[in-house]
Amino acid sequence: MADLDDYARVAQAAVAEAARHLRAVAGGHHRVEHKGTIDLVTETDRALETLITARLRSAFPDHLVIGEEASAGGPPPRPGPGRWAWYLDPLDGTTNFAHGHPHFAVSLGLARDGLPQLGVVADPLRDETFAAVRGRGATLNGAPIRVSPIGALGAALLATGTPYDRRERAELYLGAIKAVMLRTQGIRRAGSAALDLCWVACGRVDAYWEWRLGPWDVAAGALIVCEAGGSVSDFRGGRHDVHGQQTLASNGLLHAAMLDVLGPFADSG
Ligand code: IPD
Ligand code: CA
Ligand code: CA
Repeated sequence: MADLDDYARVAQAAVAEAARHLRAVAGGHHRVEHKGTIDLVTETDRALETLITARLRSAFPDHLVIGEEASAGGPPPRPGPGRWAWYLDPLDGTTNFAHGHPHFAVSLGLARDGLPQLGVVADPLRDETFAAVRGRGATLNGAPIRVSPIGALGAALLATGTPYDRRERAELYLGAIKAVMLRTQGIRRAGSAALDLCWVACGRVDAYWEWRLGPWDVAAGALIVCEAGGSVSDFRGGRHDVHGQQTLASNGLLHAAMLDVLGPFADSG
């Protein structure tokens, strides 16, 4: 019977194949379509999702595969109890990719009963692969990683993102950015939620928050943060739900302070 090691091997191979493809086509011309006013999709998003989904289905026919592009048009249903579910974002950072901005990733997580069990995130242009298996720690290109030791918000570098409904909810998202900006050393908006999470995990940023991410954005990265010694929750400190609306990830030391800052925004959006 297949176990987590088999799942991890297949996941690593599929993500590596997708990353090679992204490296080969990055910087070239991409056919871009609009899923919404500012939400883009390229032929590469679609081709890689088809490729990885086929790999996973042939290796694990009884698993569910929830890919971003196949789910376009509505939030995916929660998998039933005990069902293994793969969450795939074949290209996280499509806006960057479409503009030739060199920051994007492939993200693949596996969860059961809402709990991520393994995650792989590859940054093709930096040749970096972040990975974690529940209970076994997190790695970057095979070497163990750890969150940062920064304990004060005033000394912290933060990351965030703004979801595609940002024109409708600008006041909310900018309100939170202002509140965080007033208490930290800086905020970065790099454009790939999966890499934002991995960068918390390896200490390049100290915390990250965002509303309304898809489960394919967070399933892998949230586990990688936890396995690197960090914390992930909603904006009230409740259990993080990959199908939920709020993601706060931190090095753990800053979590309570970030909950203080984001608490006033927790009921909106
Ligand atoms: C997006 C990116 C971005 C985040 C958005 C995501 P996509 O994913 O992760 O950083 O701010 O909320 O939807 O569309 O590039 O796969
Ligand atoms: Ca994404
Ligand atoms: Ca995507």
